[in-house]
Amino acid sequence: MTMAPEKITLLENKRILLGVTGSIAAYKTVDLASKLNQAGALVDVIMTEAAQQFVTPLAFQSVTGRAVYTDLWQPASAGNGLPTHIAHVGLGEGADLLVIAPATAHTLAKLAQGLADNLLTVTALAARCPLMIAPAMDGGMYMHPATQANLQTLQGRGVLLVEPEEGRFASGLVGKGRLPETPTLIGHVRRALGGTGRLAGRRVVVTAGGTAEALDPVRYITNRSSGKQGYALAQAALDAGATVTLITSAQHLPAPTGAHIVPVDSARSLRDAVLHAVQGADVLLMAAAVADFRPAQVAEQKIKKQDNDTGITLELTRNPDILLDVKAQRTTDGWPRVVVGFAAESENLLANARDKLQRKGLDLMVANDISAADAGFSVDTNRVTVLDVQGGQQPLELMSKTRVSELIIERVAALLTDQTETS
Ligand code: C5P
Repeated sequence: MTMAPEKITLLENKRILLGVTGSIAAYKTVDLASKLNQAGALVDVIMTEAAQQFVTPLAFQSVTGRAVYTDLWQPASAGNGLPTHIAHVGLGEGADLLVIAPATAHTLAKLAQGLADNLLTVTALAARCPLMIAPAMDGGMYMHPATQANLQTLQGRGVLLVEPEEGRFASGLVGKGRLPETPTLIGHVRRALGGTGRLAGRRVVVTAGGTAEALDPVRYITNRSSGKQGYALAQAALDAGATVTLITSAQHLPAPTGAHIVPVDSARSLRDAVLHAVQGADVLLMAAAVADFRPAQVAEQKIKKQDNDTGITLELTRNPDILLDVKAQRTTDGWPRVVVGFAAESENLLANARDKLQRKGLDLMVANDISAADAGFSVDTNRVTVLDVQGGQQPLELMSKTRVSELIIERVAALLTDQTETS
């Protein structure tokens, strides 16, 4: 048996109204509704008549376990916990977010004009929650000045736009107008719901992945870091409302929606990116596994073996300690306000971690026992202890890297609040 999908704390028990209009991309939003439901959200779907030509209400009802609304004159079902009087008012009132995906050119035009001719457009007028639209249509329709003007009008009113992607349409034509895939749509939903979180208005820099130190044009020395903990931290910071810069060597992982990605490879490129990004930043979460040494020389050409070679000797030289450089910079300009380090150790975990906390001038150190198979590199779970400057020690049980990240973000938010109150 496989594990049930993990709930997303930010989405749990959030009431999301999903408006589906008549584009072929409607089939994709059955998956969106399903994934939102699995993440813990309460998803109420409103379909236009045209949407029902592509997908049936039953498909949405099956994945959300909730009644689907199609008719302006249909009373809301008591089963959804909504008032049973006029559906559009009840639906709009209780919602945390109204997402229209896919949004056709026609529905966009109606929304821009404030027309109210079906349950969805009436609900959009009645709702007091934020409105997010994800247009999906043929490239020509999307780029038409009428559609673009309607989008501008809507954005001017604060409507959140999920830009369509470039690609191939059902018609065979290529252009801009494709509905993004579910993970991207969920990323935008998270952004919309997290905007008022504890890190709203804060700038957070996260590093992720292991560094790669070149030997020659073909080979490099690296380590087992997968980047998963760093990406989970970036997502948790985004969910808390922060502006996030993710400096990463793990570019194969899906980028969290809304993060500014800075690709790096070697420790030195990571250091340059970090020292630049932390200027004016509130927080640095240094989850990257930085190589302490690199080859002293990088061969210009591929290193060749000779028939009589029995081995070669590599000379390594020290890499800069990035956190020490950050510490020095921080003493002159005060940024970042909070610095969190990560210590992966195979022995004397807590003593080594505390020593690094002090030496590197950190506010928190996350100590990670890599000797256990279910914690540390590559896996989705971790078992860590969070150390602080006061000598505090918070051991966390085995949990997902997502949950570890949320708890670290809570500690960071508390430190920032303390600083604001005492300054
Ligand atoms: O000293 P150690 O490598 O064990 O410390 C781990 C912490 O220091 C991590 O947060 C890592 O990202 C950071 N580090 C660094 N520069 C290095 C090595 C590690 O900033 N050269």
